[in-house]
Amino acid sequence: MAITPSTLTSALAERFFLHLSAPDALALLDRPSSEWTAFATSWDRLGPDRYMADGGRYRRRRHATFEVRAGALRRKPHQPHFQSRDYNPLNGDVQRWFDPIEPAIADSAILRAIFERFTPVFDTLDERGAGAAWHSEVHQFRIETSPAELGRPTPEGLHRDGVDWVFVMLIARENVAEGVTEIGDNEGNPLGRFTLGAPGESVVLDDRRIRHGVTPIVARDGTPAHRDALVVTWRAD
Ligand SMILES: [Fe+2]
Repeated sequence: MAITPSTLTSALAERFFLHLSAPDALALLDRPSSEWTAFATSWDRLGPDRYMADGGRYRRRRHATFEVRAGALRRKPHQPHFQSRDYNPLNGDVQRWFDPIEPAIADSAILRAIFERFTPVFDTLDERGAGAAWHSEVHQFRIETSPAELGRPTPEGLHRDGVDWVFVMLIARENVAEGVTEIGDNEGNPLGRFTLGAPGESVVLDDRRIRHGVTPIVARDGTPAHRDALVVTWRAD
């Protein structure tokens, strides 16, 4: 059965997270494969994350912020990413500046489709109702791993992002084993464990109620490897 906005809404209302297969997520977003190729290629142009408190050099990223209201999307001036230490004990309480997302990606039909499909679902599940304003952040991440340095997608462990809703999509896995997505509730009870394996495979999370993390990635054959992911968040504005 195809995933529709109403099945998304009921699944999230009931279970607070939803794992989407690659075919389901790609059908929901309904963009041609040529656009996905151009979109994914931009992950080859991410700058290093210089704020890793563990001294790690295994994460590359870009970042952008948007005001989202119903169908309308407006990019905000480039600003730092801030998480309080309550949500990120490792890298929190620091204003972290990352390279801006390239205009072609920020303006892409794929990103618009993500906001157009998911924002009405979150509107329905939010007491403010349709047309409410959201502050959204978009992150492009590449985690690299090699025999010299283990790549950790979420060095802070199982966590909340400190927003209302989170969408995570796997963009690519090159030579990667492990990197298992783990889901739990706020009391620490495990609720799910799966690997985002195919490009497009995704998870949608009610960040108020659900914690998430990804186990370290390991190279399959001892040569460098990487895992690319897109993370989009919505916070009531
Ligand atoms: Fe997160």
